[in-house]
Amino acid sequence: MDNVWLEKAWEQVVDKIEQTSHTFGAAFPNGTEHGRFVMTSAHDWVAGFWPGLLWLVYSETKNERLQTLAVACEEQISQTLWEFEHLHHDVGFMFGLSSIKQYEHLEDEAAKRHALMAASLLAGRFNPAGSFIRAWPNWGNEDHSGWAIIDCMMNLPLLYWASEVIADPRYRHIAELHADMVLKEFMQGDGSVHHIVAFDPETGARVEALAGQGYAADSAWSRGAAWALYGFALSYKYTGKETYLEAAKQVAQFFLANLPADKVPYWDFRLPKDSDDMPRDSSAAAIAASGLLEIASLVGTDEGLRYKQAAEEILFSLFHNYTEGQEESQGLLLHGTGYFMKDIHVDASLIYGDYYYVEALLKLKYA
Ligand code: GLY
Repeated sequence: MDNVWLEKAWEQVVDKIEQTSHTFGAAFPNGTEHGRFVMTSAHDWVAGFWPGLLWLVYSETKNERLQTLAVACEEQISQTLWEFEHLHHDVGFMFGLSSIKQYEHLEDEAAKRHALMAASLLAGRFNPAGSFIRAWPNWGNEDHSGWAIIDCMMNLPLLYWASEVIADPRYRHIAELHADMVLKEFMQGDGSVHHIVAFDPETGARVEALAGQGYAADSAWSRGAAWALYGFALSYKYTGKETYLEAAKQVAQFFLANLPADKVPYWDFRLPKDSDDMPRDSSAAAIAASGLLEIASLVGTDEGLRYKQAAEEILFSLFHNYTEGQEESQGLLLHGTGYFMKDIHVDASLIYGDYYYVEALLKLKYA
């Protein structure tokens, strides 16, 4: 595949982010409604993606204005460390894409400290009885004290990073215990994964799998599969444990084998047969593409080339088929699905879809 499309895709990214950075400033876009992003708070799970995007584009353009905005976002995100009751396991996404990136780009010691505090909060969510990191606080009357979710695989790198930075394996041990639990309790045998598994928080006994954002408890929410694919690849990267690489490959095989012709999945891989007009989830495709490129760089050789090629095919389709009409939207990728069953951001642009699309394009550029 020639690289002309990749250059065009990258130009489109830079134009879009330069343009929307003037509109958004240091704020927290989530998903679009009628082409305009709905803004959210600094403690929302999506808060890190906008500063993350600003850093990705800054890394190529060195536009100081983007850096200034990313720093202003981090300042707001770091304040949430004092909002303990609002916080959740997604501090991994939030601080990983803001504070850690700020530390890496600017050697900012305060940002490093914020990320270490977030890692301590994440480690504090570990329940040793069931060997899981609790995902969320309770919402209303819904008791989440025993809930673990697949997305958490993407929060574990905050723990691996913290262990490396402070030269102390405690956080890595917790991350590995959680990842080992996911291998046992979330994998459905064919490479698909559950979204939520509920445990008894006292005894640690597994109670049940729940549908969460998927169609059903035993269906296959496509973004959940993408989180698992990428998350296990990252756990392998930090630990060298082959079981994690095998899991990443197994999920990748399931994901790739079940894609429709245009390489972008429906929002769940196991929808009822008459659901052909169901929405796609371009964010799942973008996350999986970035995860496949991660696997490619970890395994190398001919096998790595196959993962790279699969990622490239997905990204090519996203550029050609899912950015067409993006001038009408504040987002880059169209046709993402946030939460189908609750009718939240359906057939929309999603800030995390845009983030992983841009991350994957950059990886491909230098692969
Ligand atoms: N719960 C995070 C997601 O929608 O992927």
